[in-house]
Amino acid sequence: MPSDAAPAPPATMFIFGASGDLTKRLLMPAIYNLAFEGVLDPEFQIIGVDHIARSEDDYRAFLTESVRDLIARSTDGSASIDEEVWSWLISRIGYVAGDFDDPATYETLKSRITPRADGSTNAVFYLAVAPRFFGSIPEKLAAGGLLEEGEKSFRRIVIEKPFGNDLASAKALNAHLLGAAEEHQLFRIDHFLGKETVQNIMSLRFANGIFEPIWRREYIEHVQITAAETVGVETRGKFYDATGALRDMVPNHMFQLLATTAMEPPNSFDADAIRTEKAKAIEAIRIQSPGEAANWAVRGQYTAGSVLGKQVADYRAEPDVDPHSLTETYVAMKCMVDNWRWSGVPFYIRTGKALTTRRTEIAIQFKRAPGVLFGNPSAGGLTPNMLVIHVQPDEGISLRFAAKVPGRRVRLSEVDMDFRYKDYFQAQPSTGYETLIYDCLIGDATLFQRADNIEAGWAAVQPLLDAWRARIGDLNPYAAGGSGPQAAHALIGRDGYSWLPLSGAPLR
Ligand code: BG6
Repeated sequence: MPSDAAPAPPATMFIFGASGDLTKRLLMPAIYNLAFEGVLDPEFQIIGVDHIARSEDDYRAFLTESVRDLIARSTDGSASIDEEVWSWLISRIGYVAGDFDDPATYETLKSRITPRADGSTNAVFYLAVAPRFFGSIPEKLAAGGLLEEGEKSFRRIVIEKPFGNDLASAKALNAHLLGAAEEHQLFRIDHFLGKETVQNIMSLRFANGIFEPIWRREYIEHVQITAAETVGVETRGKFYDATGALRDMVPNHMFQLLATTAMEPPNSFDADAIRTEKAKAIEAIRIQSPGEAANWAVRGQYTAGSVLGKQVADYRAEPDVDPHSLTETYVAMKCMVDNWRWSGVPFYIRTGKALTTRRTEIAIQFKRAPGVLFGNPSAGGLTPNMLVIHVQPDEGISLRFAAKVPGRRVRLSEVDMDFRYKDYFQAQPSTGYETLIYDCLIGDATLFQRADNIEAGWAAVQPLLDAWRARIGDLNPYAAGGSGPQAAHALIGRDGYSWLPLSGAPLR
């Protein structure tokens, strides 16, 4: 399908962790979609790098099988593969077997970069590997001379999360990376930024005259950001039990949603202009002492229950999870963004696994109109207007407001104005990684996290990590298939608000 995007420049993409889950489930389908769109250069190539000894033919067969398997398992039956595009892509895939710690591997990689017709030797090194290699691979790439850029050639490194596991380790990793490469060569992925609806927040705010003037403390009462998941830890027990919901979701995905909602308008759409404004928003999140932090946050862990009609085991009984684990699978927290625009406006965040529904949304609650003309319709006054950005699924935006119910008496009812992407646009199949891979190839770092952004995120959650490590604050059980622990409702309830319900249809 032809695309409106210009083709990316030719490049060799080395994928470290070529046989891993990320490569099979997300990267290859995304690269295939880019090939289908026609935005990959005829000289684009992929070299898988992994410790498994196998021939290039074997690797190509392995990828073909994985992609077919993914399609066979796709639940809605819409996935398919265009054989011509797949064979175009597969003929550009090679493989190098090697140990990531062995300098000889890097010598081999170097020999696989041959100058292209335009004289360039562009290369992207994608680290789809365990975090313990995030420092060492770039170091070895640098030592092998693979990160040296020329006038016509770029060398870029893509790093997946988790980017550190606290403030100190994130700083250490950034320092390590910046010893091997320049900031402009580093593309730190947060896949939430690849989601169309997240990118649309800036268009909503800055391409419309009506929203920005009221996007501030004078008009907004509070903001709530939800990322609810129905999945439990599934096969990721080992990673998840050492990580928990806070580290897994908050300093990265949730704060990116917060930053995009709260940031000041950038001076331009230049990557650094945007990333500077985002970093400033995250840096403005109030840092609390561990004692205070525990009052501003709630953690929970799921117990046995049923999600979408399927039995779910107690978190502690999940494979590879410590039977006495104190790891949280749910977190709710209140953040104050202490800057001029947002002073006094709470941002509530919640995310959790094994909940009743899968829903990511940002809800902006506006201040109430005075009820004087309407005889105080309910005990609490008029219902406040609410703008909800539905990030996923069923992407769109809705605005709730009051209207008169037809009839001789003046009675009010809440109604919704509703925009759904699918009613207006025909979206191409996308995993979210397409945009990120394409942007990396064209050198646009807007949707990637800069070092200061990452460190600001960790700085804001560090007091909570410290509090929970010191066993300050309860670990609240919640039944799988529910809406999270009661304490999370109490957290927002103390300020006189309530979460949008997770069960039932979203606010529309
Ligand atoms: C990942 C987390 O970064 O994001 C997962 O590690 C989580 O635990 C996932 O499930 C959520 O992403 P998405 O795109 O499915 O909402």
